[in-house]
Amino acid sequence: MTHRDRLQQAQQAVEKNAEAAAKGRHRQKYHFMPPSGWMNDPNGCIWFGGKYHLFYQHNPYAPHWGSMHWGHATSPDLLHWQHCPIALAPSETYDDHPEGGVFSGSAILTGEKLNVFYTATANHGQGFVQTQCLATSTDGGLHFTKYPGNPVIREVPPGVSPDFRDPKVLFHEGLWYMVVGASLGGGAWHGGEGCALLYQSRDLTHWEYCGILARSEGQFGSMWECPDLFPLGGKWVLTFSPMFHGRHRSMYFVGEMDFAQARFFPQHWGDLDHGAEYYALQSLQGENGRVSHIAWQNGWDWMEGWQDFGPTAKEGWCGCAALPRVLSLGSHGQILQAPVPEAASLRKQRVSRRDFTVQGQPTDLAMPDPCCYELELLINLEKTTAKRLHLDLRADETHRTRLTVNFAQKRLLFDRNQSDDHSSGLLECPLLLEGPLWRLQVFSDTSSVELFCDRGLTTMSNTIYPCHTEQKTFLSAEGGAVALEQYTAWALDSIW
Ligand code: FRU
Repeated sequence: MTHRDRLQQAQQAVEKNAEAAAKGRHRQKYHFMPPSGWMNDPNGCIWFGGKYHLFYQHNPYAPHWGSMHWGHATSPDLLHWQHCPIALAPSETYDDHPEGGVFSGSAILTGEKLNVFYTATANHGQGFVQTQCLATSTDGGLHFTKYPGNPVIREVPPGVSPDFRDPKVLFHEGLWYMVVGASLGGGAWHGGEGCALLYQSRDLTHWEYCGILARSEGQFGSMWECPDLFPLGGKWVLTFSPMFHGRHRSMYFVGEMDFAQARFFPQHWGDLDHGAEYYALQSLQGENGRVSHIAWQNGWDWMEGWQDFGPTAKEGWCGCAALPRVLSLGSHGQILQAPVPEAASLRKQRVSRRDFTVQGQPTDLAMPDPCCYELELLINLEKTTAKRLHLDLRADETHRTRLTVNFAQKRLLFDRNQSDDHSSGLLECPLLLEGPLWRLQVFSDTSSVELFCDRGLTTMSNTIYPCHTEQKTFLSAEGGAVALEQYTAWALDSIW
């Protein structure tokens, strides 16, 4: 079958299943998700032709990972998305692995031409082969032609395992560069060393290997998936999603980049998120130069072995994008993240209260919507004497998702052991808790909760699957009083 036939077949499958998936009770209201089927990494994120383009890893045939295609959607504001026809399908001997296909990659523009680079996967009897390929579109990203000379990178460099994927292409001082995620030695599953490789090119089709840009050195996991390299606030930033690195799902290095030596010199590093579901993010530059990124609100360990891909798979879909975040650099070189300010356009009814104290007994926050909302708490730390503040979301007699600000130990906790019949576990991270006024922003959607605090230094993204009967939201304090300067809650509109 030709690429065109494959695309048509895939498109029909998505459309056929979309009506049933739309009825799913866990469908998100203001997060991007495919009409049906499976989604993982954001790919080819780019501002082009007056809109943002989001491509994404997509299995159009089932709500499970497999047979990867590139889905496509566009948006004027990174929030309201319009689905476009599927952009790339497995169709060639180099990208036709039935359990692989067209893996992650990135997009760049040359004039009016959109060039996307992706990892092709194949197995012709010698194991899983990953190569880097090019496809181009001259009609704004609607139709792509695969480059006849594919793969543009066929061999892994010496010492690199077959885990070799997720090309991110960028332009710097007259040359094209490609960063590729890889694993040195044994590979991702056998104790290899995660790293990012650098290539350079003058014409986007001939690529020369420059060397290992940065590596794990025993500290940051066995394989770096979806690496990204971009300038921010006078520094260079390298982000990646490490495999087998404990709870660390997405990390950053901030430092100096030496393109001539193919070396990144990290000065600061950290987690981009402390939740369980924030993975494989990709940056993009807006029209005005603003740098943001979009992540998959999930992780690869959600695949085989995790309750058959989780509760939404039973509804015919699985996976969504996290709320896009705007990035900036803090005064100590840390990455700060804020929800895209355009999210304020989703606000509907508002409830607000000033100057009140929470202690002991739970205070019922009269939320304008029990499920889809933005909540902002402004806490006066100087007047707060409590050891802990609990925010219980999506609560009824037997369920709740509990967020705890531990003032005494400066920690944030996210407990989903009682959230629903599927979720479990306690996520924790350190807090700065700098005062006098400390702000916590909570974005709740049907099946996710995202937190932003410490002026964007600390974030958490987690999924939960309550059933809509859990309608209450409570605040309570332990060991003293919490002085709330203000709380404001907005019901958020659906984008669909
Ligand atoms: C990350 C990842 C990538 C790969 C893609 C396959 O989630 O494993 O490394 O390209 O997903 O779907």
